[in-house]
Amino acid sequence: MNQDIEKILLSEEDIAGKVQELGKTLAAEYKDKNPLVICVLKGAVVFMADLIRHMDIPCEMDFMAVSSYGSGTESSGMVKILKDLDTSVQSRHVLVVEDIMDSGLTLSRLVELLRHREAASVKVVTLLNKPERRKVDISPDYKGYDVPDEFVVGYGLDYAEHYRNLPYIGVLKPEVYTK
Ligand code: PRP
Ligand code: MN
Ligand code: MG
Repeated sequence: MNQDIEKILLSEEDIAGKVQELGKTLAAEYKDKNPLVICVLKGAVVFMADLIRHMDIPCEMDFMAVSSYGSGTESSGMVKILKDLDTSVQSRHVLVVEDIMDSGLTLSRLVELLRHREAASVKVVTLLNKPERRKVDISPDYKGYDVPDEFVVGYGLDYAEHYRNLPYIGVLKPEVYTK
């Protein structure tokens, strides 16, 4: 285990099982809808890659980069579009893929933007959900796990751009982000 990790919250096997289950549910939901599956860079990239391989239906992918956190641990409340979609969402069924919903600010802004662009439908799937931290009234349409308010990293989730490549989701040792 990485020396900066206090404990493993979700093992590689836990995550694989959950992602497969979510993929099957979503494939049934979006069968015949040719959804545009949007990965919110960078955190969702690992989840997205695994999830779509369990969605055995016609679908398209696109990527968006937004940022609210910078290198700190707290949301600034600002959501900046760093990279926009290549595809028009107009009249498309859009599925937004996120690694974690924390304050909910990133997704509430994003969903608002996609609705404004006249998507036929906008739904959100997040692997992790931290309901305790919510600042806006939004909940995911599909979720993997509710997690406690601890600093989690791995499987796409970073602290200061590190740990995204861990195959599991772990709790970061507090001394790593308080020093
Ligand atoms: C993290 C995470 C979500 C968002 C959740 O992304 O991946 O996108 O914050 O927080 P919120 O619900 O409080 O808005 P971050 O902005 O750190 O960018 P990253 O995905 O590139 O790490
Ligand atoms: Mn993110
Ligand atoms: Mg981040």
